[in-house]
Amino acid sequence: MSESIIFSPFQVKSFTIKNRIGVAPMTRMSSSSDSIPRQDVFDFLIRRAKNGAAIVYTEAIVTDYESAQGYPGQARMVTQRQIESWRPVVRAIQKEGSIAIMQMFHCGRMAWPEINPANRVIAPSAIIPKQINPMTGEPYPVPDIMGQFDIDHVIVGFVETAKGAIEAGFDGIEIHGAHGYLINNFLSSYSNARSDAYGGSVESRFRFAHEVIQAVKKVIPDDRLLTFRISNWGVADMEASLFNTKTEYQKIIKMLSKEPIDVISVSTYQYKDNAFETDRNMAQITREVTDLPIMICGQIYNKPSAEDALTDADIILSAKSMLLNPNWVEDVRSGKDLPLYTSEEANVAYTDKPLQ
Ligand SMILES: Cc1cc2nc3c(=O)[nH]c(=O)nc-3n(C[C@H](O)[C@H](O)[C@H](O)COP(=O)(O)O)c2cc1C
Repeated sequence: MSESIIFSPFQVKSFTIKNRIGVAPMTRMSSSSDSIPRQDVFDFLIRRAKNGAAIVYTEAIVTDYESAQGYPGQARMVTQRQIESWRPVVRAIQKEGSIAIMQMFHCGRMAWPEINPANRVIAPSAIIPKQINPMTGEPYPVPDIMGQFDIDHVIVGFVETAKGAIEAGFDGIEIHGAHGYLINNFLSSYSNARSDAYGGSVESRFRFAHEVIQAVKKVIPDDRLLTFRISNWGVADMEASLFNTKTEYQKIIKMLSKEPIDVISVSTYQYKDNAFETDRNMAQITREVTDLPIMICGQIYNKPSAEDALTDADIILSAKSMLLNPNWVEDVRSGKDLPLYTSEEANVAYTDKPLQ
């Protein structure tokens, strides 16, 4: 019997990705004031590579010290010590024949003043999520509207962090444009009400993402990967559709496809849900307008769901199953009956309990 598509290799640029399974980016909130993750968090990533994941994403790395952080204990990659701490982790992942990709983000309007050394919350517009911040129990603070200085400064943070990742030896960089954080705040009219060059039309809302991608691309050697993560949902006001229509979403995907990125990573709650009142899922809607490789994520938890997701996408990412089941890749291979984990079960990620 021929082996499942899940365990067939996939080529992106010069990388032969050994199978179609990746560890989705997962924030662990384990760093102390040095912004370096705990050793057991590093060990977890290495173990997932040892146990068969072809791609290992880092947690969302914070891009600057002023306003980028959104959660306690997040990591950074801009000091020599931070870079040196990641270097052996990257090497160990690569030793397993896996690919290490650093995800970086600016949390935009999801910050609160005390979490950032400069006490600032910045976003494209002074609009807050409707829900309260579960981290503080308070409403999200009204953000400062970003001026051109802020925009340029924030882009420098993405560039410096990308440089740090290259210095640490990462195979790739991901720009986090999903989940209601800063880049997503610009892309979506749900959070962007600007009337200047960065707001209004879809093209103008895309400008900030374009400038970040272009600036980051300049500091990445040609033999590394650049991926971009997008979603139609955010971690606050989860029920809101961040793009108004399928046409609007597809316009953004078309613009992204003209950028110098190698992969589009689409994040969903549930990969097979139909989107934008159509009978098609997010991977299908994305595929209609791009030839770029597509990663898909969202409740892919066993062999049938992995195979099904791969009919529309090239690579699957898993967060909760990867987090809670160290043998997930082999369990998928053998077709074992596997559980669909809940978000509550995944909260162990934020404790200091070392994961297997
Ligand atoms: C503990 C935890 C931390 C997460 N942190 C991030 C993150 O840093 N960046 C990101 O893009 N998504 C993050 N996510 C979302 C996951 O990458 C993924 O999109 C989501 O959990 C759905 O996939 P799943 O159904 O396989 O869990 C996180 C999810 C979990 C459970």
